[in-house]
Formats: sequence, structure tokens, C-alpha cells
Amino acid sequence: MILSMSGSDSMNLPNLKEAGKRTKKPISFILDEYELPEQFKNIGLNKKYYIKTYGCQMNVHDTENIKALLELMSYEETENFENADIILLNTCAIRENAHNKMFGFLGRVKHLKETNPYVITAICGCMAQEENVVEALMKKYKWVDIVFGTHNIHRLPYLLDNTLTRKEQEIEVFSIEGDVIENIPVKRDSKYKAWVNIMYGCDKFCTYCIVPYTRGKQRSRKPEYIIAEVKELVSQGYQEVTLLGQNVNAYGKDLDVDYTMGDLLEDIAKTNIPRIRFMTSHPWDFDDKMIAIIKKYDNIMPAIHLPLQSGSDRILKLMGRRYTKEKYLELVNKLKHEIPNLMLSTDIIVGFPGETEEDFQATIDVVNTCQYDLAYTFIFSPREGTPAAKMKDETPLIVKEQRLYRLNEVVNKYANMNNQKYLGQKVKVLIEGKGEKGNLMGYTETMKLVNVDGSEENIGKIVDVEITEVKTWSLDGKIK
Ligand code: 5AD
Ligand code: SF4
Repeated sequence: MILSMSGSDSMNLPNLKEAGKRTKKPISFILDEYELPEQFKNIGLNKKYYIKTYGCQMNVHDTENIKALLELMSYEETENFENADIILLNTCAIRENAHNKMFGFLGRVKHLKETNPYVITAICGCMAQEENVVEALMKKYKWVDIVFGTHNIHRLPYLLDNTLTRKEQEIEVFSIEGDVIENIPVKRDSKYKAWVNIMYGCDKFCTYCIVPYTRGKQRSRKPEYIIAEVKELVSQGYQEVTLLGQNVNAYGKDLDVDYTMGDLLEDIAKTNIPRIRFMTSHPWDFDDKMIAIIKKYDNIMPAIHLPLQSGSDRILKLMGRRYTKEKYLELVNKLKHEIPNLMLSTDIIVGFPGETEEDFQATIDVVNTCQYDLAYTFIFSPREGTPAAKMKDETPLIVKEQRLYRLNEVVNKYANMNNQKYLGQKVKVLIEGKGEKGNLMGYTETMKLVNVDGSEENIGKIVDVEITEVKTWSLDGKIK
């Protein structure tokens, strides 16, 4: 891959309106081997980098790419930002508090920069795709050296080299629809579990969500590249892959071949990787073929994350979710019926503009029906540039907070109730490492966190564990 293939020396600034446009322009697939130009290879010699990651697994995986790029440039990682020569913040834009956390940390970096002006600071990720953020960085945070977006991670070595030589703020954010770039190097955090992107972007445009703007148009990777990546992971001894995308069930719909998520799951199952997970699913695209394949293969884990967002048809419509409460429940019923021992989790937003007590009760009703193992619950956060941010919202914050609290009470009740079923049972746990209490920790097939008594030689293996104690958010057990 030739690094300079996109971008120029002029500044490329974000534009959310442009980023929200979708055209019929075909996607470019960049398939060349990755090659770091010789002149960049020693830039980081005897220097350290620190990277902080906010947000979702997609960001976590992007960070694995960024780490690999920096290490190719000879940088070494440090866990202490005060020792670093370059500090990178891989940001999240999904809610206001993610913004606040990032700016809070930036304040600490500023102090450091006052004593050591040679430290390079770089901001990337979803916030870098937002024009109000980049405007602030250009005006109030001129000392931030590099800003790059989600579409041009591979350009980091160039941007870093430019900053070091020109000593100017380097901003390069593309609001184009994005390419699919294969072969960006990766330094995986785990030797046993790997993230594998299967698609980028999202075309669903739920009215509250900034992702279709910050991550661009839906672009599926070609199946043969995904399968080759998983086969490589199998040969390296990996035990688990999580297939990643904003909306994985729509996988393949943008490709010019008749190949969907069900087909991909089946081909990945045939690689014999011991565990396959995937996230995130949109109820709209969850078809019967997918369900049949999940049922057919033991190495596809019975853990499904199925965001509900709201249980009120009126609010679902305002959210642009394209399903009704009835359709959602029908799907959950089918899943529970077809997949024994299913672990079901969800995302829920309270306080969407115009949400009444009755709408909120409809959400509680669905939670009572689905009895989720786990639910991530949020208060609606208006994101500039999305349709919901302009909707009339008269519910006071205190009411929204009370709804969140009430919802969490119900959610916790079912989390605990579902965990109780595990007491005395034998389950399979992939041991990932040492736990908090000095013992081991890992996850069951159903994604339950287990603290396990046992020796370290089990790390990286899938072992039989008997559950001896149950808590709301974790289990204790011993190796059988
Ligand atoms: N406000 C609150 N929660 C949001 N999410 C996405 N956008 C917003 C927003 N503007 C939640 C959704 C999504 C999860 C990743 O974050 O529940 O599924
Ligand atoms: Fe956002 Fe998910 Fe809706 Fe896409 S499907 S717009 S990522 S909430």
C-alpha cells in the first residue's frame, strides 16, 4: 500500500453534512500489502507513545492498528502519559459525556505540554469527524499537533512526520464516503481473542445517532479477506473472534455478490475457530438464515446483543428504527425458541425527545417480557447534526434521570435472576488472564464474566468450570 494515496498537504476539515450524503459511487478496495516508507522507520527510535481509547470495540480495534503503525516507526508503548513523546486520544462522539471526558483529559495533557513542549498530541476517532470539535481544537487548543479522522488512520506516519518537520498543527479529516483498506498492520491486545472488522460505517441513520456521519457509508469487506484473516488467527492459536460492525446483520448488502451475514457466519464457523461472536445487530436485518446458522454451529456463541432503544412504537418511529415493539418481540421469541441457553443483551435510550411516562412504561414492559441478561442504558444526548437534536424536548433532566434509575432497577433484577440459573452448573470458560483477586478470569460461551480458581497454565485455554457463587454482574467458579 502506498501511504500517500489519499490526502494532500492542504488541510482537510470535517463536514458532517457532507458526511451524511450517500451516493451510488462504488467503494474502492485498497488491497495492496502495507509498506511503511523507509524514511519513517526510525522516527520513534528511543521514544514512547501513550494512547487512550474511548468508546466502542470499533475504536478499540482502531487503536490496535494505530499501535502497530507507531511500532513500525520504532515507538514503544508506555502506560503513563507523563512519560510519553506522543500522546494520542482515540475519541468517541456517541454521547456528550464522551466529549466531556476527552476534553477533561486534554486539560491534563495541556499541563504536561507547558513543561515539555516537545510532546506531540494527536486526536483521532469519531470526535475528529465533527466540525465543532475541530473548530475548538483549531481555536482554543492550537497546541494540539495532529487531528485525523476515522477514514485515514493509515496516514498517521505521514501526518506525524509532517508535524515533526513543519511544527504546525496538522489536520486531516475526510468526510468522503470512505474506502475499504485491507492490510493495515495490527498489534492485537490479546493472544486469545481478536476483533475482526467485517464492515465499516452505517446507512441506517437512526435519528439520534452520529455514527452514520462519523463512520460514513456502509462498506462491507470482501468475504475472502475476512475468512483469510480468521484462518490466520486460527493458525496463530486464537480461540475467539468477534466480528465487528455498526450493523453486522446488514453485512454484504452493499456488495455486488449474493452473500449475506448468514453466509459469512457459516464460512467463519467452518474455519473451526473455537468461538465466534458478532456485534452489533440491528433487529431489522436479523433474518431466518442467520438464526439457522447460529443454531447449526456450536462454535457460534449463543450470545446476542439486540438493541431495543425503546419499547414504544411512537418513539421507535421518531427514532427511525424501522421496527415495532411487536416485530422486535417476535424476533426475540424466535431467537429464544431456536437458540437454547441464549444470552440476550440490549441497548436502551430513555428521555428521547417527547418521551412520555406512557412511552417509558412501554419500554419497561418490553424489558419485563425479554428479561435481558444485560442492558446498556443511556439518557438521550442530543448530537449536533442529527435530526433528533432538533426535535422538541420538554422533559426535564431530573425526570430522565429518574427514568434511567427506574429502568436500571428492573434491568438489574433480571441480570441477577438470569445469573442464578448458573449456580452449581458446569460451563466452558475461555481463561483470559489473571482476575482482580489474584485468581483467573474469563468468559462463558454466554458472555458471563467468571472469576475462576485455578493455575496459570490454563490461561488461553477453554476449560470446564463449576459455578460456586453467583453475583449480579459476575460468577465465581472452580476448574473441574
Ligand atoms: N444519546 C444516547 N444514547 C445514544 N446511543 C447512540 N446515540 C445516542 C445518543 N445520541 C446509544 C444507543 C446505541 C448505543 C451504542 O449508544 O443505545 O445502541
Ligand atoms: Fe447508529 Fe446503530 Fe442506528 Fe447505525 S444502526 S444509526 S450505528 S444506532
